[in-house]
Amino acid sequence: MSEMNIKGFPRADMAMRSCADLLLAASPAQLAAINAADSVPAFPGLLTFAGAPDEAIPADLLAAARVVVVEVDPGNPGSLDRLRAIGRDYPDLPRIAAIAETTIALVQTLVREGVSDVIVLPLQIEELLDVTLRALAHSRARSVAVRLAPQLAVVRSIGGCGATSIATHVAAHLATIRPHAAPVALVDLDLQAGSIAEFLGASGTGTLSDLLAAGSRLDEELLRAVARKADDHLAVFASPDDIQPLEAVDTDRLLQLLTLIRQNYSAVVVDVPTDWTNWAVSVLSASDLILMVVELNVKSLRQAKRRLDLLAQIGVERDRVVLVINRAERRMFKAIDTSDVSETLHREVIGTVSLEGQDLASAQAQGVLAHRLSRKSKFSADVAAIAEAVAKRIGYEAR
Ligand SMILES: Nc1ncnc2c1ncn2[C@@H]1O[C@H](COP(=O)(O)OP(=O)(O)OP(=O)(O)O)[C@@H](O)[C@H]1O
Ligand SMILES: [Mg+2]
Repeated sequence: MSEMNIKGFPRADMAMRSCADLLLAASPAQLAAINAADSVPAFPGLLTFAGAPDEAIPADLLAAARVVVVEVDPGNPGSLDRLRAIGRDYPDLPRIAAIAETTIALVQTLVREGVSDVIVLPLQIEELLDVTLRALAHSRARSVAVRLAPQLAVVRSIGGCGATSIATHVAAHLATIRPHAAPVALVDLDLQAGSIAEFLGASGTGTLSDLLAAGSRLDEELLRAVARKADDHLAVFASPDDIQPLEAVDTDRLLQLLTLIRQNYSAVVVDVPTDWTNWAVSVLSASDLILMVVELNVKSLRQAKRRLDLLAQIGVERDRVVLVINRAERRMFKAIDTSDVSETLHREVIGTVSLEGQDLASAQAQGVLAHRLSRKSKFSADVAAIAEAVAKRIGYEAR
């Protein structure tokens, strides 16, 4: 349908589309009244349930709905019970009560029950759109405030010390922890040299460039179109195909993009490049936990110290940074060992990762995780233990 005008809604078709997955649960007579208005058949994505005001609404309809308008008959205790049960079983689903007559006492009761709004019967399409749009905007604003997935930033002390290998395996392991939650997102901010998509065999064409260039078109749909699937539970946001100057990245836009990702995925792992530009530092300061990969050599530890000092200067608390020692060989006599690292750098060492030989590099060349190639991968087992510890720190334990 092209443009459809209803009083108060110059673009009612657009308003209807925004209200897709609205569930209307009302008695057959009420639904018939709105059908007679001749607009409902053109209401895309409208879900309806025709039944008495105390009749249970099928669970599959409620699970599919983004907002529900439910007829309430205040004289029928079963009807209030039905409204209450929806609130209990679907706490995130905004409920709008449709009632024949409003009294202050009734509205107070409904507000106490946690309904988002009240609409008066018989249903009018413009009023329905109006309250639905308001309830959706309200619930979006609330979920933005409340639900941002935890963000883990993986950084390196020096280039080549294994940060990307560790970030990919940590993310893949996190993705197995909450199989029923939204997928985990892995964001390759190594914008000039990123290789995460190849490491994980996540094919596709979309990259972060598409999202950073989207401006006001940036939304959940575009996010999903650009995300590449590493597996059912791990999405990759690949680095751009062409090289752009790092300073060209707009910090606010990038932070906005990460916030959108955090609203749509259950955890976010970010691979931060060796060069710490302003935007990289901003991403770190917005992260719940920073995992710094170091190696047991003087160059790596010296550089780690410099970076930790910078993080402290910008106000990142000590316990928001943990260290991972990569390529840790378990020799008896070494110039530097694990306890030296935590003492020198004054940060917790959350785990160590063994030197794996060529297996890791060949797994990456084939676009698979190390344990897919070799079940006994020590690298993978070490990183899995780190992912478990990280999950505890960021509140991402199994549910
Ligand atoms: N524990 C390990 N055992 C064996 N090989 C490893 C280990 N860790 C990393 N590597 C290998 O070292 C190389 C560099 O690793 P990776 O790309 O993960 O490092 P990086 O810190 O992300 O590097 P860059 O700074 O270039 O982004 C890769 O070939 C990887 O397979
Ligand atoms: Mg890398």
